[in-house]
Amino acid sequence: MSTPENSSLAGRTVLVGVCGGIAAYKCAGVVSKLRQAGADVHVIMTDAARKFVSPLTFAAVSGNDVHMEMFDAGTAWQVAHITLVRKSELFLILNATANTLAKLAHGIADNLLTTCVLATRNPILVAHAMNTAMLEAEPTQQNLSTLAARGVEFVMPAAGFLACGEFGDGRLADEEDIVRAATRILERGASMTDERVLITAGPTREFLDPARFLSNPSTGRMGYALADEARRRGAAVTLVSGPTEIRTPSDVRFVRVVSAREMHAAVLEHLPESSLFIGAAAVADFRPAVEATAKAKKRDADLHVDLAPNPDVIADVAQRRPPGCLVVGFAAETDDLETNAREKLARKKLDCIVVNRIGRNGGAFASTENEVRMFWPGGEQDVPRASKADVAATILDRIAALRRNG
Ligand code: CTP
Repeated sequence: MSTPENSSLAGRTVLVGVCGGIAAYKCAGVVSKLRQAGADVHVIMTDAARKFVSPLTFAAVSGNDVHMEMFDAGTAWQVAHITLVRKSELFLILNATANTLAKLAHGIADNLLTTCVLATRNPILVAHAMNTAMLEAEPTQQNLSTLAARGVEFVMPAAGFLACGEFGDGRLADEEDIVRAATRILERGASMTDERVLITAGPTREFLDPARFLSNPSTGRMGYALADEARRRGAAVTLVSGPTEIRTPSDVRFVRVVSAREMHAAVLEHLPESSLFIGAAAVADFRPAVEATAKAKKRDADLHVDLAPNPDVIADVAQRRPPGCLVVGFAAETDDLETNAREKLARKKLDCIVVNRIGRNGGAFASTENEVRMFWPGGEQDVPRASKADVAATILDRIAALRRNG
């Protein structure tokens, strides 16, 4: 363990939620380690956690008051729980039970811990512990997947002797592993503070007339996941998005566009102040040459549409980029992944390209998961199937490595 002065935890604020379960006593060790490394640690305990360990223990090891009640008499509780969340940089949930995981997965906020989780926009790290059968139960596994898809990270339970007398998976991970994972997230949280990231996401719509358009099945999820992850790492993010069903992300500059030409104009406007461009949008290559101002009637249709090419947003970005700006593209391919990707990388003068394989009916587009390959002039990397949040993190790690290696 490093000393407080040189630790990357020094001066960082961590909110720790402690759930009920036999391993609650071990959580005091984690809190103590975080504090020894210089972190300012604030603990929230559930009612069940208090049945196992006294709040006094956590007050002593954290050096701060322990929070438990939503409705503490005489305190400005409404403000208090939001303040706790705002001033912290990481939410660490220790000894998470199957019950708390279920609540978190479904957005239930019925105690101070779950309310604060719902209110946080910071990274969430969960170390869960429970009986093996409960861990393997279908609902628990689904809840874990739901949370992972939302970007929650986990320190997986270890195998060992459990309080129920069984031997199996479900033991709270070791103190050191939890502290290491928390440190990694906090270090990452500051890793892009110098970047100004411009991201495109979603499809574009190219209208034939006020009632009809040409488009594609992109959901925008990958671009939004990248925007979220870049923001979490401290970057200033501008997201230029075509029409999507996704909620507008917080803490990013958000520019809504519809057509490829609007996306092109918005991107070029924000490009001069950008240090990284990621083109995750599925930009329509063509638009109807003429957009009718009135709806064409079926009986008058001549079943023929003339198309005009759209501007290539990313190719123009690569040409006009400010000095030092990295340009990362995406490609969706059905065949010859590597050949097509390398050709696009060179033709569009990109620093890196991320390739999705698309199946029939645009399968890869609609999924909450993704599996990609990245290519850059000196190498390539396979990113195995994972949530789009995890894939976004791996892509940004790779971009950071490309930046470091010049
Ligand atoms: N792209 C863009 N503007 C366009 C078309 C594509 O900025 N008009 C960007 C996408 O955002 C993506 C990359 O270019 O980052 C590759 O997209 P893709 O559609 O695979 O490339 P195309 O040039 O359209 O190649 P093709 O359709 O021939 O495969």
